[in-house]
Amino acid sequence: PDASLIDVHGRRISYLRISVTDRCDLRCRYCMAEQMTFLPRAALLSLEEIALIADRFIARGVSKIRLSGGEPLVRRDVVDLARRIGRHLGDGLDELTMTTNATRLADHADDLAAAGIRRINISLDSLDPERFRFITRHGDLARVLGGIAAAKAAGLAVKINMVALKGLNDAEIPDMLAWCGEQGFDLSLIETMPLGAIDEDRADRFVPLTAVFDDLSRRFTLSRDAHRTGGPARYWRVGEFGTRLGLISPLTDNFCDGCNRMRLTTEGHLYMCLGHEDRVDLKAALREGGIGALDAAIDAALGHKPLRHDFRIDSASPAVARHMSVTGG
Ligand code: GTP
Ligand code: 5AD
Ligand code: SF4
Repeated sequence: PDASLIDVHGRRISYLRISVTDRCDLRCRYCMAEQMTFLPRAALLSLEEIALIADRFIARGVSKIRLSGGEPLVRRDVVDLARRIGRHLGDGLDELTMTTNATRLADHADDLAAAGIRRINISLDSLDPERFRFITRHGDLARVLGGIAAAKAAGLAVKINMVALKGLNDAEIPDMLAWCGEQGFDLSLIETMPLGAIDEDRADRFVPLTAVFDDLSRRFTLSRDAHRTGGPARYWRVGEFGTRLGLISPLTDNFCDGCNRMRLTTEGHLYMCLGHEDRVDLKAALREGGIGALDAAIDAALGHKPLRHDFRIDSASPAVARHMSVTGG
């Protein structure tokens, strides 16, 4: 068997997140500035290069791959990529999945399901059209809800991701949980993370999920659920609906001990942690030295994967200069 992926802290890497583009058709206020400079297209990995890198990770023990971005569905060949990676399902790869804002999902849900995707995570920060437009700056809620309905109709299991934002959507969280429950969707709540410059101070919007959880547990029947996805969320069962509530609390409940992830950017950089600048250039390795050099670069990355992020929400400048959309969340 090929050498498996154990990092310097003894953690097994089984989950690869691939950002297929840093671009997005929305500009969520906690994620991006209104004016963004995106990577030049010439810097991007080709579909075939991404697929080759994915092949190598699967051969070395990665069993879960997520396509993300930016918005993955703005990249034209992403469905082809899903088909190409999906060939490994049942043969090393247990799960292929995607995180999307759903603006273009109505056009692609069936093809994604046919490629082997069974489950999809969809960002949805409000169910109020005006508030949704405000948070995303460009988003049309009806269109996104159409994308979500298409995913459901295609048989995909849907999980909604909602970033909790003080004064923007925090009062809406119980309604969102109820709506998700009625739709049969799990809901993950996320604490805003200090990644990249935006046009406001994230500290003003930060909501600790500890407080949100206390409030929800008075309104709903929540019981701890041992469900694991390989992602960072901790789950509760919502008695009223039989769906799940996930909490992703990097600031108030660090989960880095169990980290099983690495991140490939669209430029071919491998980041060992969302919260650190350190990276390895897989594109250069692959182009200059082929598969052998790629493996050596991956080994080097395992040797310096950080133990944890050092996110703080009270500092004026972001912990890391690059935006979430570059690293793929
Ligand atoms: P599941 O497979 O459903 O568990 O998905 P996931 O939570 O792994 O992926 P998703 O793309 O839905 O990410 C949800 C949120 O978790 C995003 O805000 C990610 O940035 C965040 N997230 C995922 N992995 C990590 C991580 O290793 N560290 C931190 N701090 N946040 C992460
Ligand atoms: N902090 C927390 N979550 C973020 N996302 C984007 N930027 C941030 C941030 N700075 C979320 C999106 C999407 C997921 C991949 O990451 O809403 O659901
Ligand atoms: Fe786009 Fe997602 Fe960032 Fe919103 S959070 S701007 S949908 S990448």
